[in-house]
Amino acid sequence: MKRLTMVHHSIGGKTKEMASLLTDILSNEDQLIEFRSFSAFEAKASDILQSDGIIFGTPVNFGYMSGALKDFFDRNYYELEGKVEAVPYAIFVSASTDGTGAVESVRQICKGLNLKEVQEPLVLTKKLSESDQSRLRDFGMTMAVGIDAGIF
Ligand SMILES: Cc1cc2nc3c(=O)[nH]c(=O)nc-3n(C[C@H](O)[C@H](O)[C@H](O)COP(=O)(O)O)c2cc1C
Repeated sequence: MKRLTMVHHSIGGKTKEMASLLTDILSNEDQLIEFRSFSAFEAKASDILQSDGIIFGTPVNFGYMSGALKDFFDRNYYELEGKVEAVPYAIFVSASTDGTGAVESVRQICKGLNLKEVQEPLVLTKKLSESDQSRLRDFGMTMAVGIDAGIF
């Protein structure tokens, strides 16, 4: 069974809410894939090396990814470098107004690792609405189905 790993961080709880919803969706999709979730401060390179796909989730803080997610990349970059080429990934972001800085900062590091971004980032700027929940479902299921089918 293929494995999808999520690495995420939240300060005020909004990104955590998104991550929790993704966990509910991806843990209940009849075992298409194995789904695992780690907080950014806890995630290790070995968690990523054993993955067939990755989801990164972060708030935007001062126009950048959260310090915790940056810490994850700082701690693990060299262990991952050269070993995760073309692994599919996607980003979700919680922002007040503009998530661009968080998206671009994650992308820059993932480009260095040669990870492969396989869908548009999901950036939410308001309280989770029903349509946001539906977008999150599509976001998560795209990863699960794509990884399972090997289409990325
Ligand atoms: C220290 C700090 C810096 C922030 N910087 C930005 C920013 O540059 N742009 C923005 O749109 N929102 C910014 N925000 C707002 C958060 O991104 C937003 O409230 C987000 O939903 C928080 O997610 P969380 O509850 O998971 O921490 C900032 C919040 C904090 C605490």
